[in-house]
Amino acid sequence: MRGLAVLIFLALPIAAAADEIAAAKQRWAESPHGPLLERILPPTFELAKLPEPRSRGAHLTVQYCVQCHNLPNPAMHHAAKWPTIVERMVLRMEGRGNLGQLMEEMMAGVKAPSAEEATVLVTYLQKHGQKPLDPKKIPEAYAPAGEPFRLACNQCHVLPDPKRYTAREWRAVVARMQENMQWMNRVEGTQPVPGEPQLRIEEINAFLAKYARKAR
Ligand code: HEC
Ligand code: HEC
Repeated sequence: MRGLAVLIFLALPIAAAADEIAAAKQRWAESPHGPLLERILPPTFELAKLPEPRSRGAHLTVQYCVQCHNLPNPAMHHAAKWPTIVERMVLRMEGRGNLGQLMEEMMAGVKAPSAEEATVLVTYLQKHGQKPLDPKKIPEAYAPAGEPFRLACNQCHVLPDPKRYTAREWRAVVARMQENMQWMNRVEGTQPVPGEPQLRIEEINAFLAKYARKAR
């Protein structure tokens, strides 16, 4: 029996995830606010890519965090940022958050984590969080040469540590971020609006390449 229980527990994140996501999609489809909710986070981060997919943290992320929007990537934010974000989200799930009317219309069937579950969630998100750029090690990020990178990559999260990837890997990440920007409706280079900072992909990639992890 116990073996079976463990087996079910291990299989749960994947199976439950599919159910949770289907339920969320249905909620969005039925809500007049669906298009807004769908664009809060991009659909680029897939379930299978959650770190430690069998951990309780991953399981809880899937259980609670896809109720209103796409799956959050723990690596999106650095550790210091996650507690306040989770707090803001839990208040909403409890029906006490901001965006009152929108959330009220959404609340039917939305579940909130217990205090203990919220702690596990925060610990999990922090453990796999973004590693921020250290301005002492890379002061150029705050000099004119770092401006295209700094302006573009600071809009949704902290500036990432360039050492995280090789130059080649960065090109793929930056391309994905360009899609994220389109999806989430932030600055995008293809339709210049006078006075708005533009996405200077080549300069951003060159800056990241300069400080990137060396390829072997
Ligand atoms: C009850 C609906 C609801 C649930 C459930 C929910 N969120 Fe959100 N989330 C929102 C709304 C609405 C926004 C957009 C407004 C905002 O940013 O606060 C949002 C935005 C976000 C953002 C993007 C904004 C930012 O600060 O980067 C992240 C990341 C996020 N949520 C993470 C989570 C996590 C992690 C969970 C699970 C613990 C979760 N959400 C559960 C409603 C929800
Ligand atoms: C429109 C908002 C937005 C902007 C602007 C943005 N990002 Fe992101 N970033 C995200 C979201 C959402 C995630 C989590 C989903 C994902 O990984 O695609 C993320 C995750 C990341 C991660 C962690 C995931 C990984 O693959 O390691 C890195 C690194 C990153 N961004 C780098 C950048 C860089 C470099 C830029 C500037 C070119 C940038 N971001 C601009 C929204 C944004």
